Amino acid sequence: MSLDIVILAAGQGTRMRSSLPKVLHPVAGKSMLGHVIDTARALKPRSIQVVIGHGAEQVRERLAGSDLNFVVQAEQLGTGHAVAQALPNLSAERVLILYGDVPLIEAQTLQRLLAKVAAQQLALLTVELADPTGYGRIVRDTDGSVRAIVEHKDASAEQRAIREGNTGILAVPGARLGEWLGRLSNSNAQGEYYLTDVIAMAVADGLQIATERAQDALEVQGANDRIQLAELERHYQQRAARRLMAEGVTLRDPARFDLRGQVSIGRDVLIDVNVVLEGKVIIEDEVQIGPNCVIKDSTLRCGAIVKANSHLDGTEVGEGADCGPFARLRPGSVLGAKAHVGNFVELKNATLGDGAKAGHLSYLGDAEIGARTNIGAGTITCNYDGANKFKTVMGEDVFIGSNSSLVAPLNLGDGATTGAGSTITEDVPAHTLGLGRGRQRNIEGWQRPKKQS
Ligand code: UD1
Ligand code: CA
Repeated sequence: MSLDIVILAAGQGTRMRSSLPKVLHPVAGKSMLGHVIDTARALKPRSIQVVIGHGAEQVRERLAGSDLNFVVQAEQLGTGHAVAQALPNLSAERVLILYGDVPLIEAQTLQRLLAKVAAQQLALLTVELADPTGYGRIVRDTDGSVRAIVEHKDASAEQRAIREGNTGILAVPGARLGEWLGRLSNSNAQGEYYLTDVIAMAVADGLQIATERAQDALEVQGANDRIQLAELERHYQQRAARRLMAEGVTLRDPARFDLRGQVSIGRDVLIDVNVVLEGKVIIEDEVQIGPNCVIKDSTLRCGAIVKANSHLDGTEVGEGADCGPFARLRPGSVLGAKAHVGNFVELKNATLGDGAKAGHLSYLGDAEIGARTNIGAGTITCNYDGANKFKTVMGEDVFIGSNSSLVAPLNLGDGATTGAGSTITEDVPAHTLGLGRGRQRNIEGWQRPKKQS
């Protein structure tokens, strides 16, 4: 059966106290609406309609996608009115309603819900709540069948005692929706066109109302302020941590681990506290990551070790290679197998061959460094003349003396050496020593200046 999805995202979100539209606030590094859109995509619908209003231009700009259709709801007159704005674009047999500020809803839950919608049956996602204040209540007959949803503000004391709340998420037979929405009225406590009034209409038309339960309250929780946003963030991170541990990862403290993107992870990986993974990260078997590391869009090959306080972005760390503590590997950094990068070393667009080493305090940019080459402490590539960037290429088994300045463009052949403290401006052929420094003079009997009285 075909499916259209409508995502409601027009509300203001005053309680965020923000110039950013509510649905653009991030959970795990991605906007709330971005999460909902990705979940919607996983259901392979015929169309995705996003109803926008407050901050419409910003939302459209940030989330534009060829498979999304944005519909503007100029005035927020209620959830029923919001869905009605998308009606001209709906033609599928089933219509699923989602919310841009309910980011943790899972595709599996929605699949279960969708399995229950049919031409003569509407499907509601409900949730059992300890405190249902503010939620629409699911009103059932004595035989248990759903009769209506009554909004909190319109509910009697007896109805307010009901703990089964409406999540707002529902799936309806598309053929009936237009007619029901056309019959909505706004004569209620909030003066809004309630989507929830569709339930009583469907019952009156002889349809069955099926229900499905959310896994827990946070899965269907919306974020109206930054406190709720933080709750959703923690819930997301707990879920991510539990999933990784189930896959064979040791997290020294699952409460101090943050995933802001996607990770594929091998077995017997050890992740110490306060590690943040961002973007697309691939971690192979037996990798160890020390405390306080940020790793973004990177690949760590088997047995790689990232020591404490390292920052990796767009990097590949080879098999058995290690870096840090305090390594900064910027985009285009590639460490070969068993290569070593020590403390306070920055790499950018630089390749270290197998077994190559840069142990301390260096900047290596736009460099190709051969296998087993050793970079002395304090070495820098002078790769930028203020206008253009130039490349430094080193062969295998090169030895760069400490505190060398390598002025690119530069080629150093296999087995070349540079003297410590050299400023190297010319190529150094293979197996040759390049020395580029003033000669030392010793002045005998030198008198230190004396303080004038
Ligand atoms: C709604 C449900 C309620 C349910 C609750 C769960 C209705 C009438 N009530 O109430 O049964 O328990 O969600 O949180 O549907 N929106 C628009 N345009 C509008 C109005 C709302 O896009 O004109 C969006 C809002 O941005 C928000 C969502 O729809 O993301 C829900 O709207 P809101 O007014 O907050 O509904 P609730 O009062 O929470
Ligand atoms: Ca709400």
